[in-house]
Amino acid sequence: MSNLEETLSIIKPDAIERNLQDQIKSEFNKNGFKILEEKKIHISKGEAEKFYKVHESKPFYNDLCSYLSSGPIVVMKLQRDNAVLENRKLMGATDPRVAEEGTIRKKYGISIDKNSVHGSDSIENAKIELEFFFKD
Ligand code: CMP
Repeated sequence: MSNLEETLSIIKPDAIERNLQDQIKSEFNKNGFKILEEKKIHISKGEAEKFYKVHESKPFYNDLCSYLSSGPIVVMKLQRDNAVLENRKLMGATDPRVAEEGTIRKKYGISIDKNSVHGSDSIENAKIELEFFFKD
């Protein structure tokens, strides 16, 4: 039985800066994801703080929010069977150094901060994060 889901993906500033946008989008297409909506935006630090609020207590929160607001990003609404889990698999581990071969973060990530993509980590967070960027 199919289990069609939607999830949020962000192509982060380090990847946009290196012109990897099309290559990363083709990774999603090759792996069965449909890009239902997408937009290129440059968010403020305050918006980044709202988006990453779950990480508020972490020591890296301030740098993380400065980073996400440091340049343009591409936010996408992705759809496929089990999209949340499949996107997490395709992205690989948060730290590109330990991400598996073939994953987006292994191929394109530079460091744990500049790890090229963000993806929702649960169905519940996917709903919240999609709403954040694509309320209609
Ligand atoms: P992301 O999936 O966007 O979610 C939060 C981000 O915090 C994560 O990717 C990393 O880029 C960043 N980050 C920085 N330091 C850490 C850390 N020690 N553990 C987890 N995430 C970190």
